[in-house]
Amino acid sequence: MAATGLALLLLLPGCGSETFVDDHGARLSAFEYDVPERIPLPVEPEGNPMTEEKFQLGRHLFFDTRLSANGTIACASCHHQDKAFADGRALPVGATGEVHPRNSQGLVNAAYFPSLTWANPVLLTIEQQIMIPLFGEEPVEHGINDSNRDQILYELETDPVYQRLFADAFPDDDQPFTFHRVVQALASFVRGITAFSSRFDRYQEGDRDALTASERQGMELFFSERMECFHCHGGYNFTNSVYDRSHFFREMPFHNTGLFNIDGLGGYPEPNTGVHEITGRPGDMGRFRAPSLRNVALTAPYMHDGSIETLEEVIQTYAAGGRNVTTGPHVGDGRMNPLKDGFVVGFQLSDAELQAVLDFLHALTDESVTTNPRFSNPWEEQE
Ligand code: HEC
Ligand code: HEC
Repeated sequence: MAATGLALLLLLPGCGSETFVDDHGARLSAFEYDVPERIPLPVEPEGNPMTEEKFQLGRHLFFDTRLSANGTIACASCHHQDKAFADGRALPVGATGEVHPRNSQGLVNAAYFPSLTWANPVLLTIEQQIMIPLFGEEPVEHGINDSNRDQILYELETDPVYQRLFADAFPDDDQPFTFHRVVQALASFVRGITAFSSRFDRYQEGDRDALTASERQGMELFFSERMECFHCHGGYNFTNSVYDRSHFFREMPFHNTGLFNIDGLGGYPEPNTGVHEITGRPGDMGRFRAPSLRNVALTAPYMHDGSIETLEEVIQTYAAGGRNVTTGPHVGDGRMNPLKDGFVVGFQLSDAELQAVLDFLHALTDESVTTNPRFSNPWEEQE
């Protein structure tokens, strides 16, 4: 992928540099992002430019259980503000009780991903992604379908709060009460959930006291060739899967980290086969998007299937060069997975070093995320 990227850059005369952040008004938006100057703004899709009004409408919809088949599920049911919008469960449950095969993702800075969800190279915008929880049948999440969609829109349309919010968000529409507009507003809310003020950020901005000695040691280890973490979790969002206004093209790296090996050929258990689930290509088995490690201390349990409970266990797994599953239905030595990424090779850490890396990962928490009133449930405010 890097090679393709380079070729593309060479084809564009005068575009040797990867950034044009300061050129052509790349920081212009009708929306006031809470993003420091040193970080580029997210890309907004042409058909859905950001506005404060859409963000506010989306926020109301995000926390509203009326947006489901039986009034039981809101986006916020699986995306909790106090957990950086993850949900604390290994696997979430939808409106009809169906268990989702994958761990709920935190949503902070989701605007910066080139592809959405754990492993889907064809899901490119938050708008497209949101159709899945709303209308998906495998598994059922919100459970909206042809038999209940008119009733749900009717309930929104007859609420005076939404009459005002939809009119403000889509002032040119005669009839804004459509799922197209619902999705655009929800996407605008999610896109506006950005946060870059952890203690690590304060350190980067020059406050040398923002990190303790142990956290600084952990940072050095994290960025070292011994641990190799930074290859996949580097950059300002602590993932190599990043897309913003400084990018000319959408690079979408995915990696197999050796969590499973059920057949000795690198197999991952169905249906969580990673990019393979989408492409069917054998080489894509077990390849997932590297999650952002910002706020990772708030988003346990970990991995695409929520199968690792603590950050300490995650680090131990990497130290072992993968996971050897010795009991249960998925027995197999992930350390020997032939499709495993070359950067997951294993390493040794002293107890103090392990603690230092853990401390560093905790310093990536932005406490403001969990309390920022702009991201909170607006319906509670009005009660
Ligand atoms: C039943 C639980 C559940 C509900 C309800 C739910 N989500 Fe999710 N969400 C998930 C899971 C699980 C994933 C990961 C899906 C995957 O990898 O296939 C996810 C992924 C996402 C992502 C992608 C994040 C990323 O980093 O790529 C976004 C955005 C998102 N959800 C927004 C929403 C919105 C908006 C709603 C409401 C319309 C919603 N979700 C409702 C469980 C849920
Ligand atoms: C080869 C790329 C790669 C390297 C190197 C790598 N990671 Fe990861 N990391 C990933 C991918 C991909 C996932 C998701 C894997 C999955 O769910 O199957 C992940 C998941 C994680 C998670 C779980 C996050 C969550 O939200 O569930 C943590 C924590 C983590 N990595 C930390 C580290 C640390 C610490 C290191 C260095 C020891 C490291 N990673 C090295 C690619 C990598």
